[in-house]
Amino acid sequence: DEELKEIKKMFIVACGSAYHAGVTAKYVIEGLARIPVEVDLASEFRYRNPILEEGTMVVVISQSGETADTLEALRQAKQRGFKVLGIVNVVGSSIAREADAVIYTHAGREVSVASTKAYTVQTALLSLFALHLGLLRGNICESEAQKFCFSLSRELPEKIDEVIAREDEVRALCLSLSQKESAFFIGRGVDAHICAEGALKLKEVSYINAQAYPAGELKHGTISLICKGLPVIAVSTQLSTAEKTAANIREVAARGADVYLVAPADFPQDGAKYIFSLPKAAEPLLPIIAATVTQLLAYHAALLRGCNVDKPRNLAKSVTVE
Ligand code: G6P
Repeated sequence: DEELKEIKKMFIVACGSAYHAGVTAKYVIEGLARIPVEVDLASEFRYRNPILEEGTMVVVISQSGETADTLEALRQAKQRGFKVLGIVNVVGSSIAREADAVIYTHAGREVSVASTKAYTVQTALLSLFALHLGLLRGNICESEAQKFCFSLSRELPEKIDEVIAREDEVRALCLSLSQKESAFFIGRGVDAHICAEGALKLKEVSYINAQAYPAGELKHGTISLICKGLPVIAVSTQLSTAEKTAANIREVAARGADVYLVAPADFPQDGAKYIFSLPKAAEPLLPIIAATVTQLLAYHAALLRGCNVDKPRNLAKSVTVE
């Protein structure tokens, strides 16, 4: 804790879904602990000689703890004299052994190649870590922390169960989606990164070409690709940007896109063709709950297309080579 109090910057390094968990964590850590966070893909970090200043803590995230690029990033950071914290699922894995400290996610063995529960737990754990940092540094008070802890430990699993119980609704949304060859995901702020992970899942398991964009970026180029019948999955969980995302939804709907909206029931719904209303929950939990919906979308789209959801082509669970 003494060292954590002194951190001036955090550098999060990971690959794939673990990287997306890292980007989501940037929002929570910067918000709750006010520590600047930079997030990098391990395959980029290791070759670009990143600027690591005194007071920087490096955090590597990995389900398997064996990903070659992430392990190499860890080694480089250590060689340069920086402390590395590993957020790892597999106990005793290489990253867990070589990091200066480890927080295990204890998500259990993940069989499916496409990370799902590991990603969710990484995101929840990083929120808890952000909370701890915020408390240590006096940015949040004890009662706020208790409230957030309660939300994470009680409310989050209940709400995710609620979403899973509504799987048939998600499957119904996939009847049309599964027949398409490409899709867009749009969202703002943290939702943009839930979208990036949602697009990755859809690509990995259903082979639908999916691209995610921060919704505000659409008009800077991507909107030229919007056409009649194109599926656009919009994730909107934050009240502060709900109206802005709603405006983007109307823009794509006006150009004929089929909009699938994943948002709380009381958010604007104009222009959405299909809606999955998120259960009522504390706002910081909603992105993680929305991620469960996008995982289910990918899962059902893949099943409807006859794909093997557990073992997608060309992918391996543990990427131990570059
Ligand atoms: C592979 C898997 C992804 C995973 C990534 C990082 O690409 O297909 O699901 O996110 O590796 O794996 P790690 O074990 O380091 O989390």
